[in-house]
Amino acid sequence: MNSFSPLPAATDAQRVREQYRDHVNAGYARLASMMNLPIEVSGAGVYLFDMDGNRYLDAGGYGVFLLGHSHPHVVEQVSRQLHSHPMASKLMLNPFQAQAAAALAAVCPGELQYVFFCNSGTEATEAALKLAWLNGCQQVISTAGGYHGKSLGALAVTGRELYRSPFADRLGHSHFVPFGDIDALRLQLESLSERACVILEPIQAEAGVIVPPADYLRQVRGLCDQYNAVLIADEIQSGMGRTGRWWACDHHAVTPDILLAGKSLSGGCVPVSAMVCTPQMQAPLNRHPLMHTSTFGANPLAMAAVMATLEVMQREHLVERAETLGQRLQQGLQDVLRQHPRGTQVQLRCAGLLLGLEFADAGLAANMVMHLIDQRIVVNHSLNDHRVIRLTPPALYSDSDIDWLLGGVARALASTFE
Ligand SMILES: Cc1ncc(COP(=O)(O)O)c(C=O)c1O
Repeated sequence: MNSFSPLPAATDAQRVREQYRDHVNAGYARLASMMNLPIEVSGAGVYLFDMDGNRYLDAGGYGVFLLGHSHPHVVEQVSRQLHSHPMASKLMLNPFQAQAAAALAAVCPGELQYVFFCNSGTEATEAALKLAWLNGCQQVISTAGGYHGKSLGALAVTGRELYRSPFADRLGHSHFVPFGDIDALRLQLESLSERACVILEPIQAEAGVIVPPADYLRQVRGLCDQYNAVLIADEIQSGMGRTGRWWACDHHAVTPDILLAGKSLSGGCVPVSAMVCTPQMQAPLNRHPLMHTSTFGANPLAMAAVMATLEVMQREHLVERAETLGQRLQQGLQDVLRQHPRGTQVQLRCAGLLLGLEFADAGLAANMVMHLIDQRIVVNHSLNDHRVIRLTPPALYSDSDIDWLLGGVARALASTFE
């Protein structure tokens, strides 16, 4: 049975809402009250619990919970580390970092071998852009709709004006090309006289699960080779088994020069992200090891979580399970849409356990999120396209969880189109 620890009695819903309004963010407090969002207090397995003890099926978490919540092996290893050595001196060698780096490199393709651990996806993007710069890339090419984080460097390559425009004068210059359009990338590379790096998500997640043409990634790799450009694959959301392969690049047998990981890298237990690169890319950092550092990056607690996560993924065959469950959910959602008279107005896009439902407008998508909450199902919205709700479920659903999800989506759809 799933464990559930209620909050101390003194914490009531009204107080949380007021604290949000007065001390966290008044705008989000307003949104939460408009959408009647519950107050989440714990998670176990594929479920979340609110402060009234209601249980929700988790199909959200923005890609963090491929292993579900509080996987016992991850929690055990992290707890053990917590009690022995949670933070390191940073001066002496850190065996936990060494072990986790080697283990992560072992599941990466090709010569991706050196690992820089950090604490969030945006930091991994920053590290990659700096490394490309150190390797002589004076120009940066990114894709429209791509999402790489919101710190200044990462925002400079994030293709969404809404988040960029207030800071436009402060952002480094990037060239944006349409995602999936290989000719546009070729023209852009041709036009540049300096070395470039190309950063993209193999499947755009926050843009609403945009899957490019089948040969796109391979052609991107080919163009990068032809123009001596550095290829950065941001697999922060698409990686770590999410699409039914360790990395979305693996579907196309493509190895980038730099690969970014995050989200479920620590089994949903502690924040961690990583930049993984080839020895050739790593050379400048090997010459200047203190050029790019982080106090909390590669802390032993996070490293224990990474190790435990990689062990669970292999032991429980989660990559394969993500593929199989993804196929079942895709089929099931197609059937649900087919059975609803207005189902043709919703577009379904899938890549393993990264699934998107695109509605005609953002209002319908927001209503769908609320009706899913009524069905006790938690999903994600999409930061770069509010018309799309995304499902990023754990790879651990049982048959009854699948029924819960598909039945809930059918009922929520009926309410949305009422
Ligand atoms: C592909 C991708 N890159 C980078 C990021 C930024 O990660 P974080 O929010 O941990 O900084 C995200 C977050 O959604 C992402 O999906």
